[in-house]
Amino acid sequence: MNIKTVSTKPFSDQKPGTSGLRKAVPVFQQPHYLENFIQSIFDSLPGCEGQTLVLGGDGRYYNRIAIQTILKMAAANGIGEILVGCGGILSTPAASWIIRKNQAFGGIILSASHNPGGPNGDLGVKYNVTNGGPAPEKVTEAIYARTKAIDSYKILAAADVNLDQVGSFKLGTMSVEVIDSVEPYVELMESLFDFDKIKALLTSGNFKMCMDSLHAVTGPYAHALFEQRLGAPAGTVVNGTPKEDFGGGHPDPNLVYAHDLVEILFGDDAPDFGAASDGDGDRNMVLGRQFFVNPSDSLAVLTANAHLIPAYSQGLAGVARSMPTSAAVDRVAAALGIDCYETPTGWKFFGNLLDAGKATLCGEESFGTGSNHVREKDGLWAVLFWLNIIAARGESVEQIVRSHWQKYGKNFYSRHDYEEVDSAKARELIEGLLALIPEMKGKQFGNYEVEYSDDFSYTDPVDGSVSKNQGIRIGFTDGSRLVFRLSGTGTKGATLRVYFESYEPDASKHDVDTQKALAPLINLAEEIAQIKQFTQREFPTVIT
Ligand code: G1P
Ligand code: ZN
Repeated sequence: MNIKTVSTKPFSDQKPGTSGLRKAVPVFQQPHYLENFIQSIFDSLPGCEGQTLVLGGDGRYYNRIAIQTILKMAAANGIGEILVGCGGILSTPAASWIIRKNQAFGGIILSASHNPGGPNGDLGVKYNVTNGGPAPEKVTEAIYARTKAIDSYKILAAADVNLDQVGSFKLGTMSVEVIDSVEPYVELMESLFDFDKIKALLTSGNFKMCMDSLHAVTGPYAHALFEQRLGAPAGTVVNGTPKEDFGGGHPDPNLVYAHDLVEILFGDDAPDFGAASDGDGDRNMVLGRQFFVNPSDSLAVLTANAHLIPAYSQGLAGVARSMPTSAAVDRVAAALGIDCYETPTGWKFFGNLLDAGKATLCGEESFGTGSNHVREKDGLWAVLFWLNIIAARGESVEQIVRSHWQKYGKNFYSRHDYEEVDSAKARELIEGLLALIPEMKGKQFGNYEVEYSDDFSYTDPVDGSVSKNQGIRIGFTDGSRLVFRLSGTGTKGATLRVYFESYEPDASKHDVDTQKALAPLINLAEEIAQIKQFTQREFPTVIT
């Protein structure tokens, strides 16, 4: 075996963010950049020699090249076996499932999620631990510390291997098993949902759905699930052939970036149900005919209807949502008499709650929902959950959501993103707000009185770990809330996220346009934080 030890120097910018290390492709293409990070992962995993790791990615540009490098480095670092998705493809939830199903030591996922791909797009590398979920902060911090001290890496001198066919072979002494990327995931979904009921709905002739895979990783999974297994007509899945640059688009399932789907669902003769997923398949957007389902509401509706789903019919242990996610699910949890946890942004914070059996369903306002079936959010799982509810209730998406609001009241909710703003200015805005916190409580702004204000800090109820500085909250006595935080996934400048929420119990007021209903809060956020001045923007880049 010809193992080379290559000298290298640390890069100063390899700190993993909300979800792994994400950088523009040219950054990863610098000599040694990817290798340094991968070696730092191996160096931070005591006992990984001889173990099984899972490897795959969302198929974006550079995925194939990076996978070859990682395989050779894994072989040189004494990894026992690698399970790699065919063609180097695994959606993020599928990768999580493969880790769990095979009780692997962990996995490396190549993805920059919803960020654009292509030679000038982004790439990301993320390490997941043995429960199938993103590495907790203590692991990512160890990896980061290692990136700052690294002076060499190991790589096997070998030719590239063929990953386009299922099968097994050796790379040095390491076994490589090229696995079907799709089938194990489809089997998992079949074990959770009532496929007969969903199939009856999709083949009834009076229900039409459109699934937009945005030229990203869910294409093959969606074809297999909806068209092959569940009988929906060919053409149900659109943009279902993954492309390395996602067709030049931004593979983010929201009202702005999935506008083609929005046009279809809001057009004449619209289908009954529309859904989209992101670059790596963990996010989802759900639409009814001329109806948008806010992700925070989606989590609440799934929770309220979980008893209709075979996998969850015995009841939920609890639910969890990220802090900026609306409190809609809190009301359902209270009604069900189950615990509701509020965690910082990022799926990694749900891992302990799921492992400890404290939460069954989890969700984030950023189009992420999932359950204890894997340890990542799961886009197609959410779509199937909705289809199962629709099939069981025989009602439209709009009817289901409206009756939900009728029962629980409505949490008007919106997020405004200011993308690619000057990092120093964004930091200044946040510092300014932090300075205001001590004097906020009791302050009156027009009709709003501040009930509390803080920089969100989370103590994990399972391992006691504390995560500080997770976003600034300003809560008002009427239950409204403003949240400000900087994104941890952007790669250019800073992205400021401002979250608005108010509660309306009166069903006769549920039809008000969301931005109108939240206008007083939106104006208040400007007054308190001077967003326009700091961002030099008149309007947000994305409103959801
Ligand atoms: C964003 C979302 C967050 C999600 C993460 C990874 O992180 O806001 O909810 O977990 O992407 O998909 P952010 O850029 O806000 O740090
Ligand atoms: Zn994603």
